[in-house]
Formats: sequence, C-alpha cells, structure tokens
Amino acid sequence: MYQSKISGLGFYVPDNVVTNEDLSKIMDTNDEWIQERTGIQQRRHIVRGQDTTLSMGVKAANIAIERSGVVKDDIDFIVFATISPDYYFPGPGVELQKELGLKTVGALDVRNQCSGFVYALSVADQFIKTGMYKNILVVASEVQSLGLDMTTRGRAVSVIFGDGAGAVVVTRSDDGSGILSTHLHSEGEHAKELAVLAPGMGGRWVTDIIAENNPEDESYFPYMNGQFVFKHAVVRFSEVIMEGLQANNLQVSDIDMLIPHQANLRISQFIQKKFGLNDDQVFNNIQKYGNTTAASIPIALTEAWEEGKIKKGDTVVLAAFGSGFTWASAIIKW
Ligand code: UT7
Repeated sequence: MYQSKISGLGFYVPDNVVTNEDLSKIMDTNDEWIQERTGIQQRRHIVRGQDTTLSMGVKAANIAIERSGVVKDDIDFIVFATISPDYYFPGPGVELQKELGLKTVGALDVRNQCSGFVYALSVADQFIKTGMYKNILVVASEVQSLGLDMTTRGRAVSVIFGDGAGAVVVTRSDDGSGILSTHLHSEGEHAKELAVLAPGMGGRWVTDIIAENNPEDESYFPYMNGQFVFKHAVVRFSEVIMEGLQANNLQVSDIDMLIPHQANLRISQFIQKKFGLNDDQVFNNIQKYGNTTAASIPIALTEAWEEGKIKKGDTVVLAAFGSGFTWASAIIKW
C-alpha cells in the first residue's frame, strides 16, 4: 500500500479586515464580549464583486501547487470542501477544474462543515493509498459573511465567522513521511444544533421563502446552540485526538504541533490544558481570521508552516469538530 503526504500548501484571505469595533457599529456587541468568549479580534469579509468561494479557492490552490513542485497536468483529482458554494449546484470542484485549467480530472465536493477539510484530506489519502491517484488537490474555501444575520438577532453566531481559503496538494510519498491515519465521525442526532435549515428540497425551497416574504424568518441564517456545541466540541476534540494517537502507538508527548479547527480560542485552550501541551505545540490564528469553517485548518496549517513552526519529521495532529455533528482527526509525520 502506498502512503500520501502534503507536498504543498497555501492560503488566501480577503483584504477586507472587519474588527470587533466595526461589528459593534452594526449590532449590539462589543470587543470585550467577543474576545472574552471567543478570542477573536478581527476576521476577513469578502467585498462583493472581488472574491468568491471559488476565486479564493483558486488563489490558495495556486500557491499550494507552486510549492508542491507538482505540475498542473499531473493533478489527478480534486476534492473541494465548503458549506458556502457559489452555486447551489454544481459544487465548486468543477469550477476549480476549469479555472485552474486542469485536465478533465474528477472533482468531488465535500460538505462536512468544520470537519470538511479533514474529511477531504482523508478521501485524498485513501485514493493515494490504493494507488488510484498520485497527486490530489484538496481545497477548502468559505464565504460566510454573505449568509450571516448581521443584526443583533444574529450576533451570537455572526461575530464568530470569517471568510478565507486554504489548499494542499496531497502526493504519493516514497520517503516514509506523510499521513499516518485519519479518523472520521458523525452524530446526526444533533444536526439541528448547528445548521442552516433553509432552503432545502425536503422543507422550504427558495420559491416558498420568496412567496412567504417574511422578514421574521430566520431559517436561512445559521442557527447555533452555542453552549451545547461547546460542550460536545471539547469532548469530541479530545476523543478524536486520542483515537489518532493510539492508532499509531503515539503518546500526547509525541505531538509536535496540534492544529485544531479554529472554532473558538477557548476550546483550543481547553484542549491544550487538558493534554498539558505548551504554547509551541498548539497553533491558533482565530484571533485574526475568526472561524472559517472548512478553511480554518488549512489556513492555520499553512500559516504555522510559513512561520517555521512545522519541520520535517514533526508529528502534526489535525482535529476538527462542527455541524452535523461531525468530528475528525488526521495524524501526519511531516
Ligand atoms: O465551528 C463549529 C463549532 N462551533 C463551536 O464550537 C462554537 C461553540 N460555542 C461557543 O463558542 C460559544 O457558545 C459562543 C461563543 C458561541 C457563545 O458563548 P457563550 O458563553 O455560550 O454565550 P451565550 O450564547 O450563552 O450568551 C451569553 C450572553 C447572552 O445574554 P444573556 O441571555 O446572558 O443576557 C447573549 O444574548 O451573551 C449574549 N450575547 C452577546 N453579547 C454581546 C450573545 N452574543 C453576543 C454578542 N455580543 N455577540
């Protein structure tokens, strides 16, 4: 069986910085509340007409490809994770194939919310392990800002999320380095605790919502039962990290770098304390970018790598939890 490794990685965030102070001008919130509860100081929001989920994904992907040393013609497959596609269908994977000028390779769209990147990475890893493909482009990109309720009604959710994209090239490895294992979970029982319920074919479709024309309708904004999600997140993050370590006969002390999904700085700090990791062993950048859902892990992974915090031979752990509920981890020998 073959092994896969991340051969190139990149990220892109829009230029437009939105501070907590900026948000306090349009809704009843304040810097102190946001920082105390989430650690977030600012996030990026796209400017309409400048960036889209696809365009940000393309920018991140181009950087990842450039750094990977893999030429575009050798990319065999695309996996694109997002909860905020530019079109309801088709998903952005096919658009990426066109925009990058890739051959007519397969393009798979993954929608596993905050766990989307780890799920997508796992898919890429399996295709490479079987020998079916050699080079797979994995992209995660999110435009959250256009879908949020930017009034006081939506403040518990809207202050958290940001826009951005991250990408990696996953390549067949022949030097023993690479993805050691991935671990994926779901618990649909809690699907509605963090969800956007409309529009959906099984419920109310766009035409119904337009016909009803009800400004009180919140069903097309994200709903999150914050404390319920928080309590599950800290448990599932811990479990799935331990599951990954145990599968590889590793100890917590073997972790060189933990990249948690950037859901809330308090969640990352809880995990760090629970595992007794020091500040150099956990990377967070939610302070600057907010929660970018599927894009948060590849953005953080790339930034940590660019800052020289991930070196050859390091044991890197990725861990995610989010809507679904879904949660996942990946253990990588860099
Ligand atoms: O990435 C996917 C996974 N997501 C997560 O893991 C998120 C998990 N949950 C959380 O991070 C936290 O629950 C939040 C940061 C979302 C919320 O923090 P919290 O400590 O659970 O606050 P809360 O929702 O219980 O609200 C506490 C108070 C409420 O006021 P009252 O009822 O006590 O008077 C809210 O109305 O804070 C109020 N509040 C705000 N105040 C100022 C809610 N949002 C805001 C806001 N600014 N933006």
